Amino acid sequence: MRFQDKVAIVTGAASGIGRASVLEFARGGARVVAADVNREGGEQTVAAVKTEGGEAIFIETDTSSYESVQSLVDQAVGQYGRLDIMFNNAGVGSPLHNVLDMPVDEYLKVVSINQHGVFYGIKAAGNAMKERGGVIINTASIYAYIADRGKIPYHASKGAVVSMTKAAALDLAKFNIRVVGIAPGLIDTGIVTRWKGDEALWNKIQRAQMRGKAGKPEEVAKVVAFLASEDASFLNGHIYCVDDGAAAFKR
Ligand SMILES: NC(=O)c1ccc[n+]([C@@H]2O[C@H](COP(=O)([O-])OP(=O)(O)OC[C@H]3O[C@@H](n4cnc5c(N)ncnc54)[C@H](O)[C@@H]3O)[C@@H](O)[C@H]2O)c1
Repeated sequence: MRFQDKVAIVTGAASGIGRASVLEFARGGARVVAADVNREGGEQTVAAVKTEGGEAIFIETDTSSYESVQSLVDQAVGQYGRLDIMFNNAGVGSPLHNVLDMPVDEYLKVVSINQHGVFYGIKAAGNAMKERGGVIINTASIYAYIADRGKIPYHASKGAVVSMTKAAALDLAKFNIRVVGIAPGLIDTGIVTRWKGDEALWNKIQRAQMRGKAGKPEEVAKVVAFLASEDASFLNGHIYCVDDGAAAFKR
């Protein structure tokens, strides 16, 4: 039970990578706070944990609001008395427009969730952890490193997550708080649903991967749990690609 006595918060916990990570932390003995704007999905995640005999609660949270994220952390500490692991994972995909046509309000919406939400999570969780230490994990994307057409808000936000992870690791080192990130490649979750409606397109996207298929959220959650564990005690400030090599080769 590598997370015995630990308390973890996971944002974006109603589906995909977040839900799989809640389950992984709970299996390791953590008490987990599942946070999401989607109450129904978040409560299903908690129910899945309880079915397995684990401990979790759901707190409705909008990570684009600082007040909401601070309240999440306050409630988690109020409920369980401490915070050891913060997984800043909530995110949305990009509206698809050439940069010349990208509506400013749509750009700002993505950045407020994917980028500002991670800042709020680092700030609120870091303050809650500074007496005892802890681990903060941020979800970036391989799209922080390689470009795709028509998705500038997503690129902007995920590039910022990479930079903030490094900067926060430096700021929080004196409190024994590690800050690391993951950069997933194509993972079969809610965020790619819009591509799956077109079977030929989905097959084409999968064929472009190194071994021809999307990853599963559980394959990401295992890496997240490793990064949060004592086995990763000397990992800090870096971002780990979980992409089956997608960012390593020319398409
Ligand atoms: N699936 C992929 O291919 C892929 C690739 C790279 C990065 N990512 C990143 O992984 C993270 C998790 O996404 P996923 O793939 O599991 O997709 P997903 O859509 O299954 O999960 C995202 C979750 O975030 C929640 N969310 C959205 N806005 C929110 C907000 N304002 N406040 C709180 N919760 C909010 C959604 O309700 C959803 O439950 C995201 O940051 C995403 O950008 C995913």
